[in-house]
Amino acid sequence: MTLLKLFFNMNPAVSILCFFLCLGPVVCDRVYVHPFHLFSYNKSSCEKLENLTQEEKMFVPISIESQTTPAYDENLRDKTKLETQTLDTKGNQRLSYLKDLMYVLGVRFYGALKETQKGKNILLSPTNLYGALMSFYLGASSHTAADLQNFLGFVPPSGDSDCTSRVDGHKVLLALRTIDDLLLSSGAADLLFTKLSCLFSAPRVHLSESFVHSLAPSANDFYARAVDFTKPSQAAELIESFVWAKGASRSKNLLTNIDPSTTLLFATYIQLKANVKKASQLRALQEFWIDSSTKILVPMMSVTGTFQYKSDDSKHFSVIKVPVSENALLVLAQPVDSNDLNQIESELSLHPSSTWLHNLSPRHIKLSLPELTIESTYDLQELLMNMNLSGLLGKNANLSKISDDNLTIGKVINKALFKLSDNGVDQPDDLVEENGGSLPLEVTLNKPFLLAVYEKNSKAMLLFGRVTNPLKGVKSQGLVSEVVDGVERRVNG
Ligand SMILES: *[C@@H]1O[C@H](CO)[C@@H](O)[C@H](O)[C@H]1NC(C)=O
Ligand SMILES: *[C@@H]1O[C@H](CO)[C@@H](O)[C@H](O)[C@H]1NC(C)=O
Ligand SMILES: *[C@@H]1O[C@H](CO)[C@@H](O)[C@H](O)[C@H]1NC(C)=O
Ligand SMILES: *[C@@H]1O[C@H](CO)[C@@H](O)[C@H](O)[C@H]1NC(C)=O
Ligand SMILES: *[C@@H]1O[C@H](CO)[C@@H](O)[C@H](O)[C@H]1NC(C)=O
Repeated sequence: MTLLKLFFNMNPAVSILCFFLCLGPVVCDRVYVHPFHLFSYNKSSCEKLENLTQEEKMFVPISIESQTTPAYDENLRDKTKLETQTLDTKGNQRLSYLKDLMYVLGVRFYGALKETQKGKNILLSPTNLYGALMSFYLGASSHTAADLQNFLGFVPPSGDSDCTSRVDGHKVLLALRTIDDLLLSSGAADLLFTKLSCLFSAPRVHLSESFVHSLAPSANDFYARAVDFTKPSQAAELIESFVWAKGASRSKNLLTNIDPSTTLLFATYIQLKANVKKASQLRALQEFWIDSSTKILVPMMSVTGTFQYKSDDSKHFSVIKVPVSENALLVLAQPVDSNDLNQIESELSLHPSSTWLHNLSPRHIKLSLPELTIESTYDLQELLMNMNLSGLLGKNANLSKISDDNLTIGKVINKALFKLSDNGVDQPDDLVEENGGSLPLEVTLNKPFLLAVYEKNSKAMLLFGRVTNPLKGVKSQGLVSEVVDGVERRVNG
């Protein structure tokens, strides 16, 4: 039984969703090319692959402690500076298909996190998790490649098992890159978005040059370095100071319990910092109810204007869309009345992402919400283990396209930082007039809520999470050893 079947057997909701995602369009369009084929190999590229000589160029990364810059860094830097792709019809179809696959994966991981993170903040990046697994897919062969492809949602429509049923991972990584480029395309001065990826291998492990090159475009910065994992705590310190020097946010003691037999560790760090347009900080701290009987005081911001809004039909939750930059959409959902987050989590997770965005209508609203700095670090290996999928990147994984050496994949770190602030404007007091005299609807996020950040054109979900306590950063999955006060308080003059 493949891992995919195993998973679907346990998750009927997901398989139903995938059923609609995968089969829906075929029924209504006769000359329809299945979007799978926008990513798969075609006959001629398959032949080329077969004719390819097995001579792989290998290299050993320089030690993480080395002060010199290796020549290959330059090469990788060129690869990260990929030119923005212009989007044609095909490109748009690709993104549209991919965003649903990423959403499904995001929901699965969210479901796993909900079990281990009861009542805590959660922040995950579906695009980034997807990209990390797709990176391993690029390095995988035989059963591992097949299992990863299935897990990533690429189920061949024909059921054939030849080369044309396989997905070209390069195309997927390039599509992911396009999403990042779209996000930043319109001179997003009000948005900061960075992605750093690092591949750490044990000393003397040979890595395939073409594999490493193909990963580089998926980040703004990409590094490959050798680390001696047989001394785990020293390895952790070296890695933490290395990525900090390369621009990742400072973290301490995140990499505890590195397995000394590790020969490969993959880590990605994304940061998204945005301002809510026209929002101003409220002078006094505001109440936030972390549960029905406990309130804390948190810094909040407020903005009045016309927002896309809905209260769902069953009146369990309300959704508001907050523009934070030209191409970034922040969507916030909070339970109404006595409903709690559990209820809306289960309702939302049955639907593809876009239903969040459906049927919103403009409404004059005064929105108050906490200033946020949340950070999360997850080890994908642990998430997979919680989903009974530890075999995917386990000891028997065939990663022959990464290295000739037998690899032991250690942690696969995904760190995300999301910061949301006001942009420091003063609110005009007289907002009633703007709206023909009627008072705005007051929406205050003063109890646990869900948030999602989308890239506007592709509707790809960059971040998804819940905030149960705005003052807590997010730490997770056995990596925790300190609780970080998540809020940077501003010093008001
Ligand atoms: C097959 O794929 C390659 C690489 O993606 C592309 O250049 C070529 O035009 C495709 N051939 C056909 C017949 O679609
Ligand atoms: C691959 O090799 C076969 C025979 O060795 C040859 O007939 C075919 O034209 C080659 N295909 C490509 C795309 O080079
Ligand atoms: C991994 O896959 C490759 C390509 O299919 C195969 O040649 C190799 O024998 C496999 N390695 C192991 C350890 O199964
Ligand atoms: C994983 O397997 C265990 C034991 O078979 C089972 O109790 C648990 O529910 C499974 N977890 C998931 C997420 O399916
Ligand atoms: C890798 O593992 C296989 C099977 O466990 C073994 O036959 C092979 O010699 C190992 N290769 C290296 C380079 O250690």
